[in-house]
Amino acid sequence: MTIDRNRIRELCAREDARFIEERPRSMELLEKARTCMPDGVPMAWMVSAYHHAPMFVAEGDGAYFTDVDGHRYLDMNLADTSMACGFTPQPVVEAVAAQMRRGSQFLLPTEDAIAVAEELAGRFGLPRWQFTLAASSANTEVLRIARAATGRETILLFDGKYHGMLDETLLTLVDGEPRPEGLGLPKEAGRRTRIVQFNDLAAAEAALSDSAVACVVVEPALTNVGGVISPEPDFHAGLRALTRRFGSLLILDEVHTHVCAFGGLTRAWGLEPDIVVLGKALGGGIPIGAYGMTEELARFMEGTAGGEGEAADWTVRFAMRVATGGTMFANALSLAAARATLEHVLTEDGHARTAALGERLADGIEAAIRRHGLSWSAYRLYCRSGYCFAPKLSRNALEAQAVADIPLTNLMRVYMANRGVWEALEGEGPAASFAATAADIDLYLDVFERCLADLVG
Ligand SMILES: Cc1ncc(COP(=O)(O)O)c(C=O)c1O
Repeated sequence: MTIDRNRIRELCAREDARFIEERPRSMELLEKARTCMPDGVPMAWMVSAYHHAPMFVAEGDGAYFTDVDGHRYLDMNLADTSMACGFTPQPVVEAVAAQMRRGSQFLLPTEDAIAVAEELAGRFGLPRWQFTLAASSANTEVLRIARAATGRETILLFDGKYHGMLDETLLTLVDGEPRPEGLGLPKEAGRRTRIVQFNDLAAAEAALSDSAVACVVVEPALTNVGGVISPEPDFHAGLRALTRRFGSLLILDEVHTHVCAFGGLTRAWGLEPDIVVLGKALGGGIPIGAYGMTEELARFMEGTAGGEGEAADWTVRFAMRVATGGTMFANALSLAAARATLEHVLTEDGHARTAALGERLADGIEAAIRRHGLSWSAYRLYCRSGYCFAPKLSRNALEAQAVADIPLTNLMRVYMANRGVWEALEGEGPAASFAATAADIDLYLDVFERCLADLVG
């Protein structure tokens, strides 16, 4: 069954009007905020991510948050997975409060850094770790390490990727060429970046074959274009073989996917990256980015200082190291939060329980799609299951973009918001929170079902 476009427009107009009408306090705050912040928001994404006016939040608890007009939402966006552990996970709240009382930042290591690095090493199979404040800065650093370690400048990415706010990855293919995908990016940003389609090993081979590529950056599954795009069975093994053959490093961006399984998809799928990048949910709500690397790369980072006794002048020593770091990176508070998150929330049991919720979500979505005779499909990726507006799942960004339906996605989001469910951002997909229960997933499915009924009815 196809959905009548007029029906989408009508329903969206009705739901948008209701959204505004039922949120007078948010709209009042927005007016006030416009006088002191562009678009009335402290960070521009907060307005560009939604087709309706942004809403002001009062508080969150578990898998729910409440807006300033008193509406409560089941959170299926998880602040783009950064709040996958739920709002206010108690062990993290307590660890953060205790660390705050003892001092949050010293520009010196605390013991928690060792605990977190050891725990991540055990989970992800990479022995040595560094910490930042966000995944974007972790990705910035790993590109530099890869360039310094290989002596090459070019990087290879996959169409539909998102790796954060880096000039050289904020690129999109225009007529087959990487072009900056936002204002303010240098026109030449794409000069040393190659982009090919996900799941296309022949294209990856062609891009790597001149041995000019320092590193390939890839997510285990694409998670920023059309929900989730899964790798074909031989994709990661093939990519690993190619990177080894042509001397490029393999960087796995698990910033979104590490919440899927204990040790991320790296461990679940037996992947063998040279570097793995984490962030978002790792701090249980406190900012942190992290990357793990092989012993060989760690030695390279140490060795670039020129060896013992040499370069005693610190300015020379600094210049000879890979350009990494930031004043607040790896602060005591981030690491106390990450330790508590790993020990108490992102546990083997927590991952297994949340993955089961993801299966329940996919089963329910599939059943609802069938009941309403829609030619959509459901994808499954542990806690991160969702739906796609086509009978067949996409293999790459081109296919995902061809079936994307922004007006329909906008309607579904606002429809669900008006009924107490905060759906994922456009291009992403819903995800189960570690704080959610089966009853919460059923609430989502009930609202999803009502939305489909209204759409086809
Ligand atoms: C796969 C991936 N990598 C990196 C990032 C950058 O994360 P952050 O915005 O926390 O720096 C994102 C953000 O959405 C992401 O989805």
